[in-house]
Amino acid sequence: MAEAKVKLISRRDFIKGSGVVVGGAAVGSTVLAVACAPPTTETVEVVREVEVPGPTVEVEVEKEVLVEVEKEVLRETVREVEVIRQVPLKEVVNLNVNGVVHPLKVKDNWSLAFVLRQKLGLTGTKISCDEGICGFCAVLIDGKPILSCQTLAIEMDGKDITTIEGLQNPDATQMNVNTLDPVQQGFVNKNGFMCGLCTPGAILVAKAFLAKNPNPNLDDVKLALSGNLCLCGGYELIQQSVLEAARLLRGG
Ligand code: FES
Ligand code: FES
Repeated sequence: MAEAKVKLISRRDFIKGSGVVVGGAAVGSTVLAVACAPPTTETVEVVREVEVPGPTVEVEVEKEVLVEVEKEVLRETVREVEVIRQVPLKEVVNLNVNGVVHPLKVKDNWSLAFVLRQKLGLTGTKISCDEGICGFCAVLIDGKPILSCQTLAIEMDGKDITTIEGLQNPDATQMNVNTLDPVQQGFVNKNGFMCGLCTPGAILVAKAFLAKNPNPNLDDVKLALSGNLCLCGGYELIQQSVLEAARLLRGG
C-alpha cells in the first residue's frame, strides 16, 4: 500500500487562547479507512474534556481527516488524547507599580501588559501587536524600557515598574496645575501624537533615553525610538517632541 498523505491538523487550535499549556503528546490513535468520493466536508473535531484530579487535564480529540492514497480519497477517524498542564495561580507576587506595591496572584504565563491593564486597571499601557514588534506596550523597569507584552509579570516581583500613569512633573506641587513630566510636555508642545496609541510607549522610551543622553541630535533620537512604531506615521512629530523634551529637561 502506498504511503498515506495525511492532512495535518493543529492540535493546539482547540485550546488556543484558553490559558493552558500543552505539556504532553498524543498517546494513541485508531484508523478506520473507507473509500469515498472526493472530499466534500471539512475536518471534524470532537473535543471532550475529562477533568482529573491534579495539575493536568486529559482532553480527548476525535477528528475526521481526509487521506489521499493513490488518487483515492479515504476518510480516517483519528482519536488522540492530549495531556494538558493547567497553569496554576501562583502565590502572591508584589508588583511595585508607580511607587505603590500591589500584592497580586498571577498565573505564570500572564504578561506584565495583561496584568497592568486587566488586573490593575492601568490602561495607559497599550497593546497592539502583542508580539514584541510595535513598542506600544513599553514601560520602565528599574528605569530601563522593556516590552511589557513580552515580559512575564511573575518575574517582576520587587522590581520598580513605571507606567505612563506614573510620570509627573517632579517639581509639581499641590498648587501647580501642570503636573506633566517634561517628556510628556514635549509631546504636547510639538503635537507628537495623532491617535495616541503609540504615545505612552514612545514617551517612556524617550524618558529612559533622555536620562542617558540629555543633549541628543535628531539621529540619536531616530535611533533611540527605532523600536517604537507609529501606525499613524507621525514619526517626524514624535522626533521633534523628543528634542523638545530634551530642551525642557535642560531647563528650556
Ligand atoms: S504590544 Fe508589545 S511590542 Fe507591540
Ligand atoms: S499616533 Fe497613532 S499610532 Fe502613533
